[in-house]
Amino acid sequence: MSSLTQSPAWLALAEHFKEVSGLHMRDLFEQDPQRYEKFSLESGGLFFDYSKNRITEKTMSLLLDLVRQAGVPERIEKMFAGEKINITENRAVLHIALRNLDKNPITVDGENVMPKVNAVKEKMFQFSDEIRSGERVGYTGKAFTDIVNVGIGGSDLGPVMVCNALKDFGHQRLNMHFVSTVDGDQIVSILKKLNPETTLFIIASKTFTTQETITNARTARQWFLDRVGNEAHIAKHFVAVSTNAKAVAEFGIDTNNMFEFWDWVGGRYSLWSAIGLAIAIYLGRHDYQDLLHGAYTMDEHFKNKPLEQNLPVILAVLGVWYINFFGAATHLISPYNQSLQRFPAYLQQLDMESNGKTVDLDGQRVDYQTGPVVWGDAGINGQHAYYQMLHQGSQLVPIDFIASVEHPEIPEPHSTILMANFFAQTEAFMRGKNEAEVRAELNKAGIVGEAQDALVPHKIFEGNRPTNTILMQRLTPRRLGALIALYEHKVFVQGTIWNINSYDQWGVELGKQLAKAIEADLHTPGLTTGHDASTNGLINYYKRNTPR
Ligand code: F6P
Repeated sequence: MSSLTQSPAWLALAEHFKEVSGLHMRDLFEQDPQRYEKFSLESGGLFFDYSKNRITEKTMSLLLDLVRQAGVPERIEKMFAGEKINITENRAVLHIALRNLDKNPITVDGENVMPKVNAVKEKMFQFSDEIRSGERVGYTGKAFTDIVNVGIGGSDLGPVMVCNALKDFGHQRLNMHFVSTVDGDQIVSILKKLNPETTLFIIASKTFTTQETITNARTARQWFLDRVGNEAHIAKHFVAVSTNAKAVAEFGIDTNNMFEFWDWVGGRYSLWSAIGLAIAIYLGRHDYQDLLHGAYTMDEHFKNKPLEQNLPVILAVLGVWYINFFGAATHLISPYNQSLQRFPAYLQQLDMESNGKTVDLDGQRVDYQTGPVVWGDAGINGQHAYYQMLHQGSQLVPIDFIASVEHPEIPEPHSTILMANFFAQTEAFMRGKNEAEVRAELNKAGIVGEAQDALVPHKIFEGNRPTNTILMQRLTPRRLGALIALYEHKVFVQGTIWNINSYDQWGVELGKQLAKAIEADLHTPGLTTGHDASTNGLINYYKRNTPR
């Protein structure tokens, strides 16, 4: 048994779970008219209602005991102070420095990193100003119309998610494209639409060794040269974002056209760094600063607010409550803004690459569940697909509902219908529909007797299914910044409670290693025999059937 599952705070929660698991939220709402006021709060322009959870005041107090026991407040201080809390890579975790808007120094190995952070930011802003104004032009003197971000994982998901979410704020002349997969289908279909004279490529890779990105970057470079025929023009049309200047230079991009960041920025936390160049170009200096400002506001809240009023902490402990005590294996993110459609995919990497671990900080295998499967899509479409399972299926799936109140440019009745569904769903998940209500409805419809008895069990909704609601006035850069930072800190708190390192990602390495070896096998004629029977069989099937 691990020390966590034997700890006083954990044991108290396990005991308390026995009292709470049988309670229905319907009754909790009826018993306490103040429940909504008690279990809701606002920060960074985000209103957070967590009253539709299977909690009482005692639950929250015990969960916060767990947070204290895990040393979360001390660890927050360590992160903000630049301590090397990513112990397996011996690195600080300082995405918060990239949006640090006060003048306080943040030091790593005795060096205040803020001057270099601000210098790169200024370089990004100057570059984006020039692209947006048309002052910086392509090799034939035309203004840029198309920006192609080539990157994968954190070098893609942040920029693509933010540019989609904030398209109302984007520059009208600029079309943003994102190439991530090595399946050439994506880059080929994007390149078909582009004019090399007016296209800027951003090659975004922290390591600048990622196979998918380098392959796509080479394809883009070749496409450009095939049309332009002059290597000298590459400088105007290709820029790099990386921590690896040597690899950038080897690839053929002048390091003057490189925007730097540092090893203390994790890939999935990098949209605040130069990886956000595509965002800065699209939104412009002012709105990009606003995005940072929103995150900064959430950072300050996280650092300074007492645990009882601390939004990321509360979001985190609710997750722990369901994962570790109710046995929830997944968590749904359900945004009702279509523009946030990529937000669940963004959170998938943030959460699953961070907390998808089974070994604790001391190298011991854990005996409790850690990060859940995070999934989701635009909520309203989900209602007509997987919500059936959420309402009546056998697994408990906690859900985060996210929406904005104002939807400028969207004509009525769209917004009202959208929001009616948004509120209806959280109500339905909480209340359910009991037998008496089902029978009353069937009586009204004239279905009685045996026919009614047969239908009743199918039409009952147990309810008591937990949801969080996050509402904001309008989805602006500032609100989005706060929203992203909220989830980053949630992941941090959960990782701290589970005593795991949320900042490495060794789990992605094995597949990469094996792919290299298999790539060589695929180039070697004849039967492949060096793997297990299944892998050999599949490789040989592929080799037999590949047109060469
Ligand atoms: O393979 C996973 C990963 O390392 C992510 O953590 C990262 O965001 C992504 O690949 C891309 O890496 P890079 O920016 O170095 O190309």
